[in-house]
Amino acid sequence: MKIAVIGTGYVGLVAGACLSETGNDVVCADIVEAKIARLNAGEVPIYEPGLEPLIESNVAAGRLTFTTDIPAAVRASEVIFIAVGTPPDEDGSADLQHVLAVAKTIGESMNGEKVVITKSTVPVGTAKRVREAIEAETEHRVHVCANPEFLKEGAAVDDFMKPDRVVLGVDSEHAAGVLRDLYAPFVRTGHSILMMDVASAEITKYAANSMLATRISFMNVIARLCEETGADVDAVRRGVGSDSRIGSSFLFPGVGYGGSCFPKDVQALVKTMTDLGVDASILRAVEDVNASQKKTLLDRLRRRLGEDLGGRVIAVWGLAFKPNTDDMREAPSIVTIEGLLERGARVVAHDPVAVDEARRRFGDRIEYAAANYDTLDGASALVIHTEWHPYRHPDFGRMKSAMAEPLIFDGRNLYDPARVAEQGFEYHSIGRPTSFPGAVNEA
Ligand SMILES: NC(=O)c1ccc[n+]([C@@H]2O[C@H](COP(=O)([O-])OP(=O)(O)OC[C@H]3O[C@@H](n4cnc5c(N)ncnc54)[C@H](O)[C@@H]3O)[C@@H](O)[C@H]2O)c1
Repeated sequence: MKIAVIGTGYVGLVAGACLSETGNDVVCADIVEAKIARLNAGEVPIYEPGLEPLIESNVAAGRLTFTTDIPAAVRASEVIFIAVGTPPDEDGSADLQHVLAVAKTIGESMNGEKVVITKSTVPVGTAKRVREAIEAETEHRVHVCANPEFLKEGAAVDDFMKPDRVVLGVDSEHAAGVLRDLYAPFVRTGHSILMMDVASAEITKYAANSMLATRISFMNVIARLCEETGADVDAVRRGVGSDSRIGSSFLFPGVGYGGSCFPKDVQALVKTMTDLGVDASILRAVEDVNASQKKTLLDRLRRRLGEDLGGRVIAVWGLAFKPNTDDMREAPSIVTIEGLLERGARVVAHDPVAVDEARRRFGDRIEYAAANYDTLDGASALVIHTEWHPYRHPDFGRMKSAMAEPLIFDGRNLYDPARVAEQGFEYHSIGRPTSFPGAVNEA
């Protein structure tokens, strides 16, 4: 099939590469010339495991190309995915200007019947607006479908190649047939294609992300209860998650959710529901809990070390909002670091892949260490935001001898409090008793 994917961010690039891997001719188009120039020079502008070789082999096979000429990409294709960003607007709703701009360009470039698919996360009713924008420019027949994307950054290629399910909101038998064919190679192991009406598909994406965000905020308030009572949230999590009606995923308490999706999608769903007179208080509570949870490490550190951090070195491990990505959008680390800088601390940070991204945000207001241990020289505390694998089994002896004070604030519960105490650290984690050198505090 001849396919255009418009927008070459995390979603568009992964979708384009994976669709070319199954034999389609795919042109990925974007308005940012520098991005397309890098892709044409063989560089991959984002970090995503497995993506680079996939792009390389499909470009070499002639099935994957990159362009800024969006009209030409549209003319050359029978199927067009819209995968541009839908950032939050000032009022919290999804900003559809990029989606609708692409729809207009598609309309202006139509040279025959085409299937247009919104892959961007868009509020219910958007496919209808996309159709209107296209039909305002052309007499050619267009089918407009919603195919929300559920990939996770850090495992995006795997998620696209072997999805739990493919949700397809379709408006015609023709579109249903085209999309069923297109996705057949990705669901060979029995995962399902769920065909539905367009509005239901649009809502499914927001409902799924909001449900996951709800689980996280829910466990974060349970963690606070554990902290007040001396209980251990890890035990509670296992007890709750082993109920087959609940399941164990997304029950880890932490330093709050971030990233490019959950914060904006919960916010956008609240806006849609409120506009339609539907009670959104449950989701507002999810957001409120998350906003305060993102401050939790800073609050603890301030309580322990005082408001004035002038002259103190604070080591930070992990900048990305989660492991295996360089994405720092809405990352909890930003809240902590800004708070530390405001209080005069010298911040020395490490992240295996997000340092370039951090430099764009913080410039030289913070220091960047090449190795995680290099952050610790003379540090008054270590703050952990991201559960990168190499942080899981560190050499505590080496850490202790480098630090000015053996003090850890762990936003991801990476260590066993008793073990860290044995190593001579004061250890603060989420929803578990604080441990002190030699002993675990029994609340
Ligand atoms: N990142 C994720 O994990 C994820 C997962 C599922 C769904 N989504 C959704 O997919 C959409 C894209 O997300 P992303 O993370 O890939 O965004 P992104 O910001 O990484 O990429 C968006 C791309 O669209 C391009 N673009 C913007 N306007 C354009 C236009 N008029 N014409 C052509 N290109 C244009 C931008 O230059 C950019 O390269 C969003 O709606 C997002 O909510 C993202």
